[in-house]
Amino acid sequence: MYKSKITGTGSYLPKKIMTNEDLSKIVETSSEWILERTGIETRYIADTKNGESNSDMAAIACKKAMDMAGVEAKDIEMIVFGTCTPDRRLPHASAELQRKLGIENECACFDLGAACSGFVYGMTIADNFIKTGTYKNILVVGAEVLSSIVDWSDRGTCILFGDGAGAVVLGRADENETSEVLGATLGCDGSGTEYLKIETGGSSSPLTHEDIDAKNNFIQMEGRTVFKYATRTMIGNAMKLLDQSKMEPNDVDWYIPHQANIRIIEYIAKKLRLQDGKCVVTVNKYGNNSSATIPIAIDEAIRDGRIKRGQTVMLDAFGAGVTTGAVLFRF
Ligand code: ACO
Repeated sequence: MYKSKITGTGSYLPKKIMTNEDLSKIVETSSEWILERTGIETRYIADTKNGESNSDMAAIACKKAMDMAGVEAKDIEMIVFGTCTPDRRLPHASAELQRKLGIENECACFDLGAACSGFVYGMTIADNFIKTGTYKNILVVGAEVLSSIVDWSDRGTCILFGDGAGAVVLGRADENETSEVLGATLGCDGSGTEYLKIETGGSSSPLTHEDIDAKNNFIQMEGRTVFKYATRTMIGNAMKLLDQSKMEPNDVDWYIPHQANIRIIEYIAKKLRLQDGKCVVTVNKYGNNSSATIPIAIDEAIRDGRIKRGQTVMLDAFGAGVTTGAVLFRF
């Protein structure tokens, strides 16, 4: 058995910022309501026709991660790409990303459908490929253009989401190194499929003109119910992984939860009795960019010096499905 570790991180946020004030001109809402109920002040919106498609943003994030890791295109042996907003339905986004990164070694590439838990799922899969000795360098990516699947006339959802990309290079660690992925837990509670969904456009209900008129091709969500699933599953993940690792909540140096709503993060921190300042928070700046929230937050906190070598970090996610998962690593 080998050990894996994060050797590089990268992220990208689109150039265009959308403020709460901007939203209040589109739907019946206010800056105060959005801030008080979600903690979100701004989010970023991708210009997909001008260098900010999902795979464009992912490629920028990956290049930064590869630079930090000191690896070249030829060294990448697999790409795991968590996304629910690929550029196109076919081919998958990871193939597009491989081409844009100039990776010509025909490495394994696949997209992973686990909504906002996509990055945590991806990291767990990559960790196992490295542990078994199959690969030494894997790109794990989360990138989204949620602005493309949001109904901009639905104030219950359009205020929450944003676009962006984050990536890590997961590499093989030497036996005597302290940096390593320490554990993971993944799960899904399929009883939640109807609370966060896009009704049409899949094979069981191909898109019709009527669907487009009814806006059935956009995200539909029961916010309050999703809130309850989120808190229950994320607290459950964290406790399970801490238990597996024989650690108490405050033994972990940093906690990086999925960034959906500051109230969800604060509720979890309270229940786990986390000391103040342990959570990395980006939801105020970027909103919820699904599979990208966690890798963006990892990259930010490593680059600004908050997360230091030797410190432990817990990633904790939930997403449509309801998928859920957590990863514990020492940087
Ligand atoms: N501006 C003003 N008023 C609003 C807005 C808005 N943007 N949105 C809803 N309201 C109104 C509602 O109509 C309602 O009015 P009513 O009482 O007259 O009916 C009132 O505000 C309260 O609405 P609630 O939905 O109960 O508000 P809540 O406090 O639950 O906040 C929110 C809504 C922010 C959506 C919250 O439920 C939430 O964050 N849920 C979790 C969502 C989430 O995490 N989704 C991401 C999933 S991850 C993925 O896979 C994509």
